[in-house]
Amino acid sequence: MVENDVRHLINRKLEHVEVTVFGDVSRKTYTMLEDVTLVHQAFPGISLEEVNTKAKFLGFDVNAPIMVTGMTGGTPELGKFNGTIASVVEELGLVMGVGSERIVIENPSSEESFRIVRRNAPTSPLVANVGMPQISRGYGLRELEKIVSVIEANALAVHLNVAQEVFQPEGETDYQEEVLGKLKDLSSQMGIPIILKETGCGLSMETVRKFSSYGFHNFDVSGQGGTSWIAVEKIRGERRGNWKSKSASLFSSWGIPTAASVIETKWADPASFVVGSGGVRNGLDIAKAIALGADIGGFALPVLEASLEGRDAVKQFLSEVEFQVKVAMLMSGSRDVSSLKKAPIVILGSLKDWMESRGITFSTYDKVRKGGY
Ligand SMILES: Cc1cc2nc3c(=O)[nH]c(=O)nc-3n(C[C@H](O)[C@H](O)[C@H](O)COP(=O)(O)O)c2cc1C
Repeated sequence: MVENDVRHLINRKLEHVEVTVFGDVSRKTYTMLEDVTLVHQAFPGISLEEVNTKAKFLGFDVNAPIMVTGMTGGTPELGKFNGTIASVVEELGLVMGVGSERIVIENPSSEESFRIVRRNAPTSPLVANVGMPQISRGYGLRELEKIVSVIEANALAVHLNVAQEVFQPEGETDYQEEVLGKLKDLSSQMGIPIILKETGCGLSMETVRKFSSYGFHNFDVSGQGGTSWIAVEKIRGERRGNWKSKSASLFSSWGIPTAASVIETKWADPASFVVGSGGVRNGLDIAKAIALGADIGGFALPVLEASLEGRDAVKQFLSEVEFQVKVAMLMSGSRDVSSLKKAPIVILGSLKDWMESRGITFSTYDKVRKGGY
């Protein structure tokens, strides 16, 4: 890649961080987690101390079902955020992903901003990150192994961000089906799990069925209701007078709300491993996502915002989230995460309508989410 292109990639990442933090691009739509109620149990039969939040992340033990999903890396400044978040993730025993590592391939001097994550989180499960268009456009085993090795990753997230790319002047919208076969071949040579990850528009049952038919069963739904990449590109476009900005406004509520996406994903592939993310903002959201069918909940923007304030703020935020998960577990009578997955829930409002119009009946889905498929 020529120097100008590398600079462009770096500037774009810095601008993305700036716009997401300062640009009012979050919570413009609903996650539909608002329509889920964990039924209160006045006599839970356990004490708060007995509630066990330990969870599994693709075979790894974690202290709580909380993941920081991929965001940054690429420059020394962004490396600092990565390092801060990683050290808290290690201390609390959680999971962390890094932002797109395309920059590592294009510009080796950016490696340090990712390597710091493994240094600061030596025992945590870490997730490497690359875009599906990069695989379409020629990344092979050499590139993917490099991306994984930089953080000694335990899994690789391949992100899908068609709704973002389509509004970028420089966007890459290579999503032809052949790439799934290529990715499958690569993954069988790599020896670590692949997670197919959206970036704020959610996964549908049709998409998940397609992925499952190629042998992919790990998903990060990253649904609608949190950071909107369409809104981010609208702002970037307005700054540059990009004619696509107006169309980005039209599509500002495009996507599948997170709660609906968790349900669609589990419905399509009941045995799948699911990260419930996109607009998840507290421990109650995480508990609801898990009761709906996710295995772990994920945050992006709130953790980045806390990291701007420093390590203490990240630790405080994630510790509070852990406490909130525990409280929701206690009051729903869930001794551990597997009981939370089976806790009684009520689904009302738009989510109920969504399920109905997608042909998903509550009583059948209730069996699916509880593992009785
Ligand atoms: C500043 C920023 C940068 C991001 N960069 C990436 C990325 O490089 N790769 C990726 O898979 N997702 C990326 N994401 C998407 C998040 O992982 C997440 O899916 C999305 O923001 C929704 O979660 P949220 O509502 O909690 O922010 C980024 C998010 C933010 C806020």
